This record gives sequence, structure tokens and C-alpha cells, in this order.
Amino acid sequence: MTALLEVKNVKKRFGAVEALRGVTFTLGEGEVLGIAGDNGAGKSTLIKTISGVHRPDQGELLLKGTPLQLRSPREARAAGIETIYQDLALADHLGVGANIFLGREPLRWALGFLPVIDTAKIAQEITNLLGRIESHIPDHETKVMDLSGGQRQAVAIARAMYWKARLVIMDEPTAALAAMESKNVVKLARALADEGISVIFIDHNLPELLGVCDRVMVMYRGDKVFEASSKETSQDELVRYMTGYSLRDKGVEA
Ligand SMILES: Nc1ncnc2c1ncn2[C@@H]1O[C@H](COP(=O)(O)OP(=O)(O)O)[C@@H](O)[C@H]1O
Ligand SMILES: [Mg+2]
Repeated sequence: MTALLEVKNVKKRFGAVEALRGVTFTLGEGEVLGIAGDNGAGKSTLIKTISGVHRPDQGELLLKGTPLQLRSPREARAAGIETIYQDLALADHLGVGANIFLGREPLRWALGFLPVIDTAKIAQEITNLLGRIESHIPDHETKVMDLSGGQRQAVAIARAMYWKARLVIMDEPTAALAAMESKNVVKLARALADEGISVIFIDHNLPELLGVCDRVMVMYRGDKVFEASSKETSQDELVRYMTGYSLRDKGVEA
């Protein structure tokens, strides 16, 4: 598999806290990679260095072999990296369509010289998109504040699909969702992968994580301590690494 993203020896410190102690991993194209780890293990810090929120103190990121120096989430998005946080950055009072296009609306020329937002094009594109992801969102004018948590995730995912993201990062996307809605978000993560988009999926629910991801890695106190294909590991094994138990076993940690 071609590597989309290479993370090499990334370190990040907040004062006395070493949040990342030299993390290295690669992500293939169209691959769904899971990250497990206890609270404070460094999962969010890791993805924030990939999404332009934090700059690593050391180490480097490569996107398709090219070094990535991200100074903001905006630069990350421009490079094709979309992040879907638990508390989604959607504009509640705007419609679904407006949220997907937010700040990047297609324009048409009125009277041959006046740029205006092409609402007909938006309606058409969004209808196609919502159909494709089976979101059950009635139409593109539905206000985001009237959507369920799962539908909000679907809007964020539709936005990533529409803008042809290369990598979508989901930080505990199902944490606040009902079971049925979680299933749909998991399905959407797989749909992204089917389109060749790579996904990083952080989840505390290990059966769900193993179900959706091709590969999983475990973070423990700022280090990546384990990595395996989902088929070749188990919840028990992940828990042993998440708690540091397996590390003590191997004499790596006291
Ligand atoms: N902006 C920040 N300022 C100071 N400390 C932080 C900041 N972000 C994270 N940390 C610390 O870094 C460590 C890793 O946190 P985090 O990446 O959020 O872990 P996780 O997402 O795995 O729960 C924790 O000790 C946390 O308190
Ligand atoms: Mg976190």
C-alpha cells in the first residue's frame, strides 16, 4: 500500500508534560487506522499535530513523501486533511448545504460580471452527496441545529468527501451518539476509505474500533507502544497495552 502520511519521531511538550515522546507511524491510502489509549495518552495531541493545531517540537510529517509544515488547521485543510472533532465545528444556524460549502461557495457570474453564490449548483451537489451517504437528512436547507448528533457527523463527513479530502481524522466521533447513530458513523468512515480517503479513527469503544479499522495502534504516556492489523489482535491485547500491563511484562516499564 502507498503511504499517504508518514509521521516520524514526533515530539511535543507542554511545559513539564511530554505529551508526545517520539511517535512514528505510517498511514496507507484508503486505510482506516485506529488509535486507542487511556485518557491523557496523547491521542488528541498527536492528531492535532497532523491537523495543524499544534506544531511538533521535533520530528516530521510527510504527505505523499513531501514534508508538511502546517501553521494552521486552514493549511491542513488546504493540504486535504479534514478533522472531525467530537464538538463539531459546524454553524448551527445555517443549513446543511451552507455548512458543506462554508466559505468555499461555488460562484456564478450574474450579468456576465457580478459574482454571486450559485445556489442551484449547491442544491444539486448536496442532494447528490446526501443521497450517497444515506444520511436521511431531508434536504440541504435543513438547519444543522435541527439535526441529530449522527446527522451532524454525516454533514462533516459529506464536507470532507465533497472537498476531496485525502485524510479524515475522527476524534471520538461516536462518543456522544446513540448506538444506531454510531453504526452509521462507522459506515461512513468505511465509505470514505472505499473512496480512497485515509481515515484516522480515535475511539474508546474497542469492539467498534476493531470493527471499523484495518489497523490499530495503542498510545501509552506519549508513546506508540503497539500496532497490529485489527484481524490479528483483540480487545484484551489492546487493553494490556493501554494499561501498560504488557510493557511491565516485557520489562520495558517498571
Ligand atoms: N494544550 C495543552 N496544554 C497543556 N497540556 C496539554 C495540552 N493538551 C494536552 N495536554 C496534556 O498532554 C497530555 C496528553 O493529552 P491528550 O493528547 O489530550 O490525551 P488523550 O487525547 O489521549 O486523552 C495530557 O497530560 C494533557 O493534560
Ligand atoms: Mg483526546
